[in-house]
Amino acid sequence: MAFGVRHPNFLSLTLLSLLAVASAKVFFEERFDDGWENRWVKSEWKKDEDMAGEWNYTSGKWHGDPNDKGIQTSEDYRFYAISAEYPECSNKDKTLVFQFSVKHEQKLDCGGGYMKLLSGEVDQKKFGGDTPYSIMFGPDICGYSTKKVHAILTYNGTNHLIKKDVPCETDQLTHVYTFILRPDATYSILIDNEEKQIGSLYSDWDLLPPKKIKDPEAKKPEDWDDKEYIPDPEDKKPEGYDDIPKEIPDSDAKKPEDWDDEEDGEWTPPTIANPEYKGPWEPKKIKNPNYKGKWKAPLIDNPDFKDDPDLYVFPSLKYVGIELWQVKSGTLFDNVLITDDPEYAKQLAEETWGKHKDVEKAAFEEAEKIREAEESKDEPVDSDGEEDEEDADDESKTEAGDDTTETEEETEDVHDEL
Ligand SMILES: *[C@@H]1O[C@H](CO)[C@@H](O)[C@H](O)[C@H]1NC(C)=O
Ligand SMILES: *[C@@H]1O[C@H](CO)[C@@H](O)[C@H](O)[C@H]1NC(C)=O
Repeated sequence: MAFGVRHPNFLSLTLLSLLAVASAKVFFEERFDDGWENRWVKSEWKKDEDMAGEWNYTSGKWHGDPNDKGIQTSEDYRFYAISAEYPECSNKDKTLVFQFSVKHEQKLDCGGGYMKLLSGEVDQKKFGGDTPYSIMFGPDICGYSTKKVHAILTYNGTNHLIKKDVPCETDQLTHVYTFILRPDATYSILIDNEEKQIGSLYSDWDLLPPKKIKDPEAKKPEDWDDKEYIPDPEDKKPEGYDDIPKEIPDSDAKKPEDWDDEEDGEWTPPTIANPEYKGPWEPKKIKNPNYKGKWKAPLIDNPDFKDDPDLYVFPSLKYVGIELWQVKSGTLFDNVLITDDPEYAKQLAEETWGKHKDVEKAAFEEAEKIREAEESKDEPVDSDGEEDEEDADDESKTEAGDDTTETEEETEDVHDEL
């Protein structure tokens, strides 16, 4: 790779990191420069149903550099599938780094922003939602409940979701997502070069059956005392306890003045609950001196567990693909990288996203200002007296309320469709 030519700012780096980068093995790198269309194959998946969305080759509406383009979903309510091939490779004894940048310009309310690594032979023209993959990684947003980074690993033909909750970015700017998988079966998830999650394949996915299980043969011993509290044998029912009546005559009640003993019978006051009455007597509870704790079956080695020292290995990685359903389009992918060197990935992110992020943010804020100004232009302006203004206020509040309901309904529709 001609680093010197493509990245002259590398010259300013220390010798150490240059050496590190010089030894990086890059399995695949796509910056979506000229000629990208020769490297990527658009799938025909969903074409016959007219549901296959078109990609737009663009830097988007806001960016740090108009010439730095990526590919962006450009039609709403469409499926997207595109993939690129690289020489088959294995991550055995190597670190695997999978990285790309993604920008949701559309203020994504429901849709994926993830990518996949595929293995073996894939008919790229038919690549779609059912095509088996090895790794699926990246952000996924749907409504209020789903805003996470997916990290799905396929092991022995089954897809396993990460058990950790890793929140994703939800704004309309470019972010870099990095997945690092190491030969010691540890992993890291980075967003914008910042570590968001680390851990082990053993603990954070259920790839293998558990190492230890509860002994299914074990039984609670008959004399196991698992009552934490017992009635106090010393406690005695106070004398006369049972003589306390539940209800007593209401001493505040007065015989009505027009009460006629002869006609109405003898007057008796109504009864009320007796504050002295405490219910049936029960001895008080004390700590059980023989309490042994809750019984738990002892853990034994799981006979079904067989360690796999190659748990982290994907032996025949060969394709990278994007396969998405989008309700609202506008997701832009760029700078896809598969390498064995986290340091190289970090530098690529710095050189692309890192270099452009401030200009992009300023451009976005400018675009928002223009959009807001245009929106307020469309709103009817009422310049009459104060009373009218108050009315207008009320109306806009009601409208805002209605809007919220609508958005929620839309989100639910979206979930149904998925
Ligand atoms: C492609 O993106 C650019 C920049 O956002 C936009 O102006 C253009 O209309 C888009 N083209 C299509 C076909 O969506
Ligand atoms: C792989 O899957 C098969 C079929 O589901 C199963 O019988 C086998 O035990 C699994 N092997 C491992 C190592 O999980």
